[in-house]
Amino acid sequence: MSGVPDSITITDDRTGKTVTVPIEGGVFPSSALRELDPSLFLYDPAYLSTAACKSSITYLDGDNGILRYRGYPIEQLAEHSTYLEVAYLLINGELPTEAELDSWVFDITHHTFIHENMRKRFVDGFHYDAHPMGMFVSAVAALGTFYDDAKAIDDDDSQHRSVLRLIAKAPTLATMCYRFSVGLPFFLPENNLSYPANFLNMMWKIGEYEVDPVLERAMDVLFILHADHEQNCGTTAMRVVGSSHADPYSAASAAAAALYGPRHGGANEQVVRMLADIGSVDNVDAFVKDVKAGNGRLMGFGHRVYKNYDPRATIIKQTAYDVFDVTGQNPLLDIALKLEETALADSYFVDRKLYPNVDFYSGLIYQAMNFPVDMFTVLFAIPRMSGWLAHWLELLDDKEQKISRPRQWYTGVDEREYVKPSDRG
Ligand code: CMC
Repeated sequence: MSGVPDSITITDDRTGKTVTVPIEGGVFPSSALRELDPSLFLYDPAYLSTAACKSSITYLDGDNGILRYRGYPIEQLAEHSTYLEVAYLLINGELPTEAELDSWVFDITHHTFIHENMRKRFVDGFHYDAHPMGMFVSAVAALGTFYDDAKAIDDDDSQHRSVLRLIAKAPTLATMCYRFSVGLPFFLPENNLSYPANFLNMMWKIGEYEVDPVLERAMDVLFILHADHEQNCGTTAMRVVGSSHADPYSAASAAAAALYGPRHGGANEQVVRMLADIGSVDNVDAFVKDVKAGNGRLMGFGHRVYKNYDPRATIIKQTAYDVFDVTGQNPLLDIALKLEETALADSYFVDRKLYPNVDFYSGLIYQAMNFPVDMFTVLFAIPRMSGWLAHWLELLDDKEQKISRPRQWYTGVDEREYVKPSDRG
C-alpha cells in the first residue's frame, strides 16, 4: 500500500511513551522495547514470533512451500547437484567452480578416516544394543577431543579443518555406530567412491558388495534435501551452544541431540513405527479418528513453518518410486498413501494446515533400502552437519551476535524463610 509507512509504533500505556521503529523484511528490532522500558520483555515461548539472527543461508516460505539454499531452489539442486556441491554452497555462499569442487571433494574424501582410538576406546565402550543415534551424538562430541586445534575457533585454518573433518567423518561415525550395534566389524572408507557410495559401502559391505547407482543417487538426493532448513530446533541448538564459543564438535553434538527428538529428526523413525502399528489400509480411518480425538499425532505431518506441502516431501515421494523400482515396494506405502489421502481430505488437518513433511516418506525409502529404523535419524544428521556448520560460521562472523541468553517470566513464589526439615509440617 503506497503512503503507508514501513514502521511500527508501540505505546506503553503505563507511561504514554511511544517508540516508532522501522519494519524491514517483515521484522522489527526488539530494541524498540528496550527503548520504551529496559525492564520490559517479550513473552515468546518456542520463539513463535522471534527472529534470533539474520541469516543468508536458507530461504523458506512456508505458506507457498518454497525452499532455497543460497537462492537456489531445492528442486533444481535435487535434480542437478550433488550433496558435496550443496555442502560447499551452504558453507561458502556460492556454487564452486569445477576446480574448487574438485579440490573440495578431494579434501572431504581425504578426511574420512577416524583415529583408531575412537572405535577401540570410545565406541567399543557402549552397551551392545546402544541406539546408534545416541552413540552418534556422543561420538561427534568425542571427536573434538582428538584435535588440538578444535577450540581455536577464531583461527580461519582451524575452522576450515573442523568443517572438513565433521562433514567428512559424519558417515564414518554413523556407520561405525551402526555396525557396532549389530556386531559387525567396522569397514574403512574407500577413497575411490563418491560420498553417498562410500557411506552405503561402509554400511553394508560384508564380503562382496557393489553400490547400486540408483540407490547411490537416491542417497545423494536425500542428503541434499536434509542439508539445511534454517532455524529449526537442531540448528538453533548449534547456534546457542556455538554462541558460548564452545568448539564446533560440542556444538554439533548438541545440534544432533536436538535432532534426536521425535518431534524433530526422530519423526521419520516414528512414521514407520506408526504405519506398522496401523497395519492395514482398513485401519486408517480409525487411526485418523483417534488422532483427532487427541490420542497422539500423525507423525510426518505438520510443521512449524510450512503451512503447505513441504517441497522436500514432493521430491522424496518421487525418489521413493525410483528406489522401489530397485528394492521392490515397501508394503507400508499403501498405508502411507491412504493416510495422506484421508488426512488431506479431513477438515481437522486442512483447517490446521497440516501437510506431509520431509519425514513422511523418507522412512519408507530408508526401510526399503534395509536401514533399521534406529538409523533413520542418523541418516538425517549426516547431511545436516553441513547446514549446522554453515550456521556456526555465519554466527561467528556476525558482529551483532552475543552469547545466547533469553530472559524468563518468573512465576514462582516470592521470598520466604528457610525452615528446618524437623519444623516442616
Ligand atoms: N497430528 C495431529 N495434530 C497435529 C499434528 C500432527 N502431526 N501437528 C500439529 N497438530 C495440531 C496440534 O494438536 C494443534 O492443534 P490445536 O490447535 O487444536 O491444539 C495444532 O495442530 C498446532 O500444533 P502445534 O503443536 O502448536 O504446532 P507446532 O508448530 O508447535 O508443531 C510439529 C510442529 C512439527 C512439532 C508438529 O506438527 C508435530 O508434532 N508433527 C509430528 C512430528 C513430525 O512429523 N515432526 C517432523 C517435523 S519436519 C522435520 C524436522 O524439522 O525435523
